[in-house]
Amino acid sequence: MENLFNGSKKISQKDLAAFNMIGDGKDGEIYKVADDKVVKYFFKEETHGRELEAMKIGQSSTIMPRLYEYGDNYIVMEFIKGISLARHMKRHGTINEDMTKKILFVLDEFKKLGFTRWDTEVRHMLMDENGDFKVIDHKRAFTSDSPVPTKLLKGMDKFGLTKEFLVHVKNINPKLFNAWKKHK
Ligand SMILES: Nc1ncnc2c1ncn2[C@@H]1O[C@H](COP(=O)(O)OP(=O)(O)O)[C@@H](O)[C@H]1O
Ligand SMILES: [Mg+2]
Repeated sequence: MENLFNGSKKISQKDLAAFNMIGDGKDGEIYKVADDKVVKYFFKEETHGRELEAMKIGQSSTIMPRLYEYGDNYIVMEFIKGISLARHMKRHGTINEDMTKKILFVLDEFKKLGFTRWDTEVRHMLMDENGDFKVIDHKRAFTSDSPVPTKLLKGMDKFGLTKEFLVHVKNINPKLFNAWKKHK
């Protein structure tokens, strides 16, 4: 595969000037660099290192965007074309059983990958064109310790959908439901 940044160790804002910024957060900026690729440009190398580690380990899972290329302050990864769980909730005002199963699959993958954070944000779960979730922003995968998806539940609260979700969880996986209840 052709290297976008010629294997540079570091890139600067200048190298990104030609691309469109499609997202930004506290830790970096995301630019669309090809039809199917984005680059995440990190403000801090420490954050970059933590996210890269999680992304490398996560390559064995379908929930992780493909990792294409990286240096010390950037990661080129798969562009996930789709809407976030947050937007889905806003648009549909409901979380059905099928959606709940997909969310539980994601959380179970975190566990299987050895992440210590079994949680994410509703804005970081992106549903692709096949209806499968891909999760972005993994810098806390090993630095948080979350057996209960507190952030996710909080994100659902905003749309009044936590209860609905938990009813499905209880039906699908009562053991998991009880484990969450115990930790609360
Ligand atoms: N692989 C991706 N595909 C599509 N959109 C993305 C991708 N990565 C990031 N984004 C967009 O950019 C935003 C910020 O990315 P994120 O990784 O959360 O940055 P930060 O670490 O600064 O919070 C996301 O909320 C999302 O809208
Ligand atoms: Mg983020």
